[in-house]
Amino acid sequence: MNDRILLNVSIDGRDCSFETETDRRLLDLLREDAGITGVREGCGEGECGACSIFLDGKLVNSCCIPAVAADGSSIVTIEGFSKTPEFDIISDAYAEAGAVQCGFCTPGFIMATAALLREIPIPDDNQIRTALSGNLCRCTGYSMIIDAVRIASKNFHSASSPLDQQYGGLNDT
Ligand code: FES
Ligand code: FES
Repeated sequence: MNDRILLNVSIDGRDCSFETETDRRLLDLLREDAGITGVREGCGEGECGACSIFLDGKLVNSCCIPAVAADGSSIVTIEGFSKTPEFDIISDAYAEAGAVQCGFCTPGFIMATAALLREIPIPDDNQIRTALSGNLCRCTGYSMIIDAVRIASKNFHSASSPLDQQYGGLNDT
């Protein structure tokens, strides 16, 4: 029988407690216990980025993280992130570029785009490719996704408020 542990975590701004097995994946806790199905399971092996979350502000694949490692942490999922102005700018850019087809991969790409543009507001194409290298898309062929990141970068730049004010209360993501 697996050991169980009580774990306390902030998810999308809500304080939550879960009793869970010590060998559980964070992805399973988020989807099954917290009901956050916007965090997707693709490969389950750290290759596709569909399960991306911000864990204490760092972009990680939740399929590769034990749930116990998140004890005391702050998590932002695509569901929380989708309530921010930052998400709106990025998702509008994906729509404008035609970078969404089936949409399965899109939450992960949007999270990776946010992580990139926070670190490098005006990335070149190599920096975009590197930042998105942990995400897989079966549909689009990637060029439209790269266009989407360029458009998001431009639109952040021309937005009236500074980038850090556009994070809309989830600035610790
Ligand atoms: S499901 Fe986690 S990286 Fe693919
Ligand atoms: S849009 Fe279908 S997997 Fe990317």
